Amino acid sequence: MSKLIVANWKMYLSPKNSVELFGAVGKKGEVVICPSFAALNQLSTLAKKSGIGLGAQDCFWTNRGAYTGEISPVDLKEIGCEYVIVGHSERRGYFQETDEMVGKKVKAALATGLIPILCVGENEFERKKGKAATHVVEQLKKTLTGLGKLRAGQEIIIAYEPVWAIGTGKACDPETAVEMHQLIKEKVAELIGVKNVRVLYGGSVNDKNIASYLEYAEIDGALVGGASTKKDIFASLLSIASKF
Ligand code: 13P
Repeated sequence: MSKLIVANWKMYLSPKNSVELFGAVGKKGEVVICPSFAALNQLSTLAKKSGIGLGAQDCFWTNRGAYTGEISPVDLKEIGCEYVIVGHSERRGYFQETDEMVGKKVKAALATGLIPILCVGENEFERKKGKAATHVVEQLKKTLTGLGKLRAGQEIIIAYEPVWAIGTGKACDPETAVEMHQLIKEKVAELIGVKNVRVLYGGSVNDKNIASYLEYAEIDGALVGGASTKKDIFASLLSIASKF
């Protein structure tokens, strides 16, 4: 299977800049772009034409109701999203999202026919204490337990994003990422019966280091933040990734 590159544009780009960048990217390999909510509608027509996948950066766990400011998974689906990132460490950190909340979002996304990209990863303290593996396994257990087996046609993607590597320029060394990816694949198989789930690496990925990750079979692609918002760097990253 080809490698998957998911761009998380976070809150870096305005809708106008998102349309410009999207137009400049061009499809190379399997690519999904997750712009800010405000840009999703405009990008959805472009995404359909280009064959680039479209994803949101979060969703709520219920489809309708009095939830001011939240985004319904069915609405994301209606405007053309196929993917949704859930449990990003910036949501967990700034908005106190717990594993329980993230688990409900995974369930809601799957029920709607969206492909959740579930983010897990340890912080610097946990890594230094030798607790990275335990922490990630705990996150998987708490978010996936109770999900049951996935139905035919349903898919889930996991993103291993060590918090200390996000936006810091201190990318995780590929061998360590491979160990974590193996562990994640084993646990996901055990918890929801999905064999060889796709696991993306995220955290300071750029065009200079992308190849060092993608050369490993355990690394199915990357979740790219900052580097995906810079036209030339992203184009070069995609061109490298498409050769794997
Ligand atoms: P950076 O690529 O900017 O480190 O961000 C990674 C990330 O959080 C993607 O979701």
